[in-house]
Amino acid sequence: MDVVNLADMEALARERLPRDVWDWLAGGAEDERTVAWNTEAFRRIRVRPRVLVDVRQRELAVNILGQDVALPVLVAPMSHHALIHPDAELAVARAAAAMGTIAVFGTGAHYSIEEVAAVSSGPIWFQLYCHDSRPVVERIIRRAEAAGCRALVVTVDGGHYDARRERNIRNRFRLPSSLRLGNLVGVGMDDEVLRTEGAPGFLAKARSMPPTWDDIAWIRSVTHLPLILKGIMTGEDAARAVDLGVDGLIVSNHGGRGIDCTLASIEALPEVVEAVAGRTMVLLDSGVRRGTDVLKAIALGAQAVLIGRPVLWGLAVDGEAGVRRVFEILRDEIDTALAQLGRPGVASVDRSMVVLP
Ligand SMILES: Cc1cc2nc3c(=O)[nH]c(=O)nc-3n(C[C@H](O)[C@H](O)[C@H](O)COP(=O)(O)O)c2cc1C
Repeated sequence: MDVVNLADMEALARERLPRDVWDWLAGGAEDERTVAWNTEAFRRIRVRPRVLVDVRQRELAVNILGQDVALPVLVAPMSHHALIHPDAELAVARAAAAMGTIAVFGTGAHYSIEEVAAVSSGPIWFQLYCHDSRPVVERIIRRAEAAGCRALVVTVDGGHYDARRERNIRNRFRLPSSLRLGNLVGVGMDDEVLRTEGAPGFLAKARSMPPTWDDIAWIRSVTHLPLILKGIMTGEDAARAVDLGVDGLIVSNHGGRGIDCTLASIEALPEVVEAVAGRTMVLLDSGVRRGTDVLKAIALGAQAVLIGRPVLWGLAVDGEAGVRRVFEILRDEIDTALAQLGRPGVASVDRSMVVLP
């Protein structure tokens, strides 16, 4: 089958992966309404094409925290790539670098951030899940800094808690004990459990801890890396984060994996953008599947978006090349959409490009 769009890639990935791994990757909380709304809400936004504009040259590049990025689409942080493909984060890092974009790897990675940095010629960011020991958190941050990560993304949504992902419950899904957690070795956690029981036993015992505002203020004080909060869904939290001096926010409902029935992230974007009022960078993830989705998010005030599941679809289908293909498809769709909408570049996309339902 020719892969023409991301839905084709999704269908191929589904054929290739074991059923329980597919369900782990695709699934969301409870009735998976938010999973569905994330994509549907993008579809309901209409676009307004302008004509007679010279769009023979189109500029897809954007600048994110001082970094030139070839297209406004980044790789979202996702745990356990090794369930999908043995090259795991290494393949994703190489693909992102080849496509000229930023990839985010984090606490749940199989390969360590040093191993990922060693194969990547592109910018990488580190995603942090907190732990109840500040010395442990600080050691993880120091490793990310030393590996050359350009920003620290702290996930602040319910990602630290178990979610009711019913597909996993029905499948009695268990992580394989061969799975590593390369970033959690040697940071003062229980290396012996990690060595003998692998990721599943370790995660069952780990004292991961959802951060509070105090923790964010503390993290801000211990690192000079730009600090980005991932999982902001309301104007109230966005305003409070700005007051703490964060460098960016990611509007995200974790791809609908944490709690069902939230707004789609694209529906939450306007209130966050309004509360932020230009004082910090706003990114968005959850449900981006088309070039027009990317431009709709930018029209509503995001500087760029991140994609989660589509990266793992590409990884499942053809490793590094599959991930590259996902980005090529989105790049071509964005380019075509800019031409069709009479916009010479991402920078010329503004609120007047969209009509909300
Ligand atoms: C399999 C999988 C694992 C994930 N693991 C993490 C994680 O470890 N940390 C995190 O902040 N977000 C994680 N996420 C959420 C993604 O970063 C992102 O918010 C979400 O996938 C975006 O939605 P999309 O998949 O619709 O593009 C994960 C998502 C998936 C699908």
